[in-house]
Amino acid sequence: MTRSPAQRGTPDVGRARSGSFRHGDDWWRRGVIYQVYPRSFADGDGDGLGDLPGIIDHLDHLGPDGLGVDAMWLSPIYPSPGVDGGYDVTDHTRVDPVLGGDAAFDTLVAEAHRRGIRVILDLVMNHTSDQHEWFVGSRSSRDGPLADRYLWRDPAGIDASGTPLPPNNWVSWFGGPAWTFEPARGQFFHHTFLAEQPEVDWRVPAVETAMFDMVRGWLARGVDGFRLDTFNVFLKHPDMPSNPTRRGTSAWTRQVHLYDFDQPDLPALIERFRAVVDGATGRMSVGEMFVGTLAGAAALTRDRHLVFDWDLLGLPLRADAFRRTIRRRERAFGLERWPTAVLSNHDQSRHVTRLAASVGAPEHDRDAIAKAGAAILLTIRGTPFLYYGEEIGMADVAIPPHESVDPPAARVGPDFPWWDRSQARTPMPWTGGPSGGFTSGTPWLRLGPDVAERHVAGQAADPGSVLSWYRALLAARAGHRSLQDGAIQVVSAGDPDTLAHVRSGPGPEVLVLIHLGAGACRARIPSGPARTWSVVAATHVDPATRLAAGRSLELEPYEVVVAVAQDR
Ligand code: NOJ
Repeated sequence: MTRSPAQRGTPDVGRARSGSFRHGDDWWRRGVIYQVYPRSFADGDGDGLGDLPGIIDHLDHLGPDGLGVDAMWLSPIYPSPGVDGGYDVTDHTRVDPVLGGDAAFDTLVAEAHRRGIRVILDLVMNHTSDQHEWFVGSRSSRDGPLADRYLWRDPAGIDASGTPLPPNNWVSWFGGPAWTFEPARGQFFHHTFLAEQPEVDWRVPAVETAMFDMVRGWLARGVDGFRLDTFNVFLKHPDMPSNPTRRGTSAWTRQVHLYDFDQPDLPALIERFRAVVDGATGRMSVGEMFVGTLAGAAALTRDRHLVFDWDLLGLPLRADAFRRTIRRRERAFGLERWPTAVLSNHDQSRHVTRLAASVGAPEHDRDAIAKAGAAILLTIRGTPFLYYGEEIGMADVAIPPHESVDPPAARVGPDFPWWDRSQARTPMPWTGGPSGGFTSGTPWLRLGPDVAERHVAGQAADPGSVLSWYRALLAARAGHRSLQDGAIQVVSAGDPDTLAHVRSGPGPEVLVLIHLGAGACRARIPSGPARTWSVVAATHVDPATRLAAGRSLELEPYEVVVAVAQDR
């Protein structure tokens, strides 16, 4: 067998042809979705903040001549004061002029579609900014058409010092009470997040009508899907009773959250939302489960409506942990429900940092760990969501508190061992030039200390880079149907540190070996579906290498082999 430091795949197999979408209406199961945090992806106008023209300039990185992803999810692009990184929206129907405005958005959709990339918007429908015209209109008066669109409630009483008491004991995820008193109206309003993010009342028909009209507007502009921010919080118990209390380490964990989210009528609301989205064919949605469980995520999953569960994100870099969790997720979702695969997003420590720290791995293992992480993400069952920058092994960047762009970071308590999401939202380095080619101005947030060596241009030219590995794996995935929507079986490769699984049907089976150990090991090519396997992507061996079932194979630290069944 030939071993080589460069990894290669099958770069041309199954790639979308320019201007055509891959996988038809089933793309939400078979395709790969790439999350862009627009403020940090690329700056087109030199003001230091990423924007839509910047994204348009870099679409080839995502399209068929680059990674070859099927869709991109844009974190919020709406006008926003930015107290929660864009998740505080003043107008859900428009695009923030700071990000390029509506014309740039329409160009982005056309240019993305031309490359076979679908566009998914982040819908923040649980709350608005306190600068939203609805809230401004309801703040000072209990009358008028906007008066009841938020969760306004009377005080429960007045304390000895004359201070109004909140309607119940609910607390905010970002710290402090979930209620803020508005003297002009003489009532409290509810907010699970910041007080600058008042929660709308989804039980008021005018709210649902307005939200669904807004969704129709985006569909008409060519949007292909939606990510629903904290969708399981939309509905609260109609009577808003206090939550029961229990022992815990913070105000949040000292409550049993029976009444402030996950209400029994949520599935019916999701069905109504889906009926609107299904007005156009091939449109998907994915719900962000807030503080949810695996079982809860599986229960809310529907056709064309995925739900993020967070079990993969909490794992250390150990094969047994991944084996157990993959099996548990398979049991929870079953064959009828389609899971997602996520290791990083804009709210979490980047996975290369997290996984390396979980085993105390040295810095020189970082790229190998990034490659092993990519192999997990792109070969287990479920729609993979990549987070910008992971394809070049971007790590968390230490941000001094005075440079933080995440105001909630200053408020959260002991529930968050890792916090200040600025660390995982730093600008993308494109070149070895000033500011990594991200901007010609002053970047809004500092770039990583390794920007001179770690950037897209450098990695695109290096066949041994993390980026080349992502491209190889994505090509292998696109070329082998069983890697897209086949079933998964976790198998034994005879070595405890090697994660091994077989994806089967439609098409030939694919075997994946991912060695998650820091030393060399001997693994065994599992017997079973095939007598011989032919390598289609690997970090250390040449493609087309043949592997005989039952034979043993020496694996280097973090080595990955993806092979397709030959002789059965
Ligand atoms: C979930 C988003 O992912 C997070 O970034 C945001 O802070 C909260 N929703 C509140 O909007």
